[in-house]
Amino acid sequence: MEGGGTLPETLKEERQLGHILPTSSEASSVKRSPWGFLLTGIVGGALVAVYAVATPFITPALRKICLPFVPATSKQIENVVKMLRCRRGPLVDIGSGDGRIVIAAAKEGFSAVGYELNPWLVWYSRYCAWQEGVHGSARFYISDLWKVTFSQYSNVVIFGVPQMMPQLEKKLELELEDDARVIACRFPFPHWIPDHVTGEGIDTVWVYDVSTFRGREKRP
Ligand SMILES: C[S@@+](CC[C@H](N)C(=O)[O-])C[C@H]1O[C@@H](n2cnc3c(N)ncnc32)[C@H](O)[C@@H]1O
Repeated sequence: MEGGGTLPETLKEERQLGHILPTSSEASSVKRSPWGFLLTGIVGGALVAVYAVATPFITPALRKICLPFVPATSKQIENVVKMLRCRRGPLVDIGSGDGRIVIAAAKEGFSAVGYELNPWLVWYSRYCAWQEGVHGSARFYISDLWKVTFSQYSNVVIFGVPQMMPQLEKKLELELEDDARVIACRFPFPHWIPDHVTGEGIDTVWVYDVSTFRGREKRP
């Protein structure tokens, strides 16, 4: 038969030129595997989850004043609690982290509140307070400390960083009542003279009674 031997040759050429569709067995190998989609979904979901969890911990570092999450040591908490003895009235921890100061204060009988920017830490704090049986007297809010007014608190605890202390000092001086007490952990306020200092090294806490610094000369 004329041309019988040339057909396979033609097919070969056409295939090389890409003019012929793949055979069904070739087509099935081109089909996307459902495992590929699943894997893409898992990897994508994991990346989104890591991003969502990590972002609130990283963003404080990008702010003008970087106040990272560094939890108080147990000695530091002990020193704070010691400086709260004989005190009464509501307490606030400014930047409450995982809630350990608020929970310790609530265990001492204070109605204690924490303001914290990181929602994960706030949810975790609420869970810890519930676990420790003090959820009735320990409350936590997702808030920026610079947008909260602290006038209602008689006891204020702050574990800050040196860069924020001058600005916070001014804010508290304007807002707090005369009978309030401020306890600074690890870093003191720049102008106020402490009424008490306890602990040493990283566990040092400075205590300032508002009545004392209001009675003193105004700073320049
Ligand atoms: C040094 S940690 C202290 C945590 C806790 N007070 C303690 O003693 O364990 C400071 C906390 O302040 C939070 N923070 C940073 N900037 C803040 C802001 N603008 N408003 C509220 N909280 C903030 C951080 O997320 C961090 O948890």
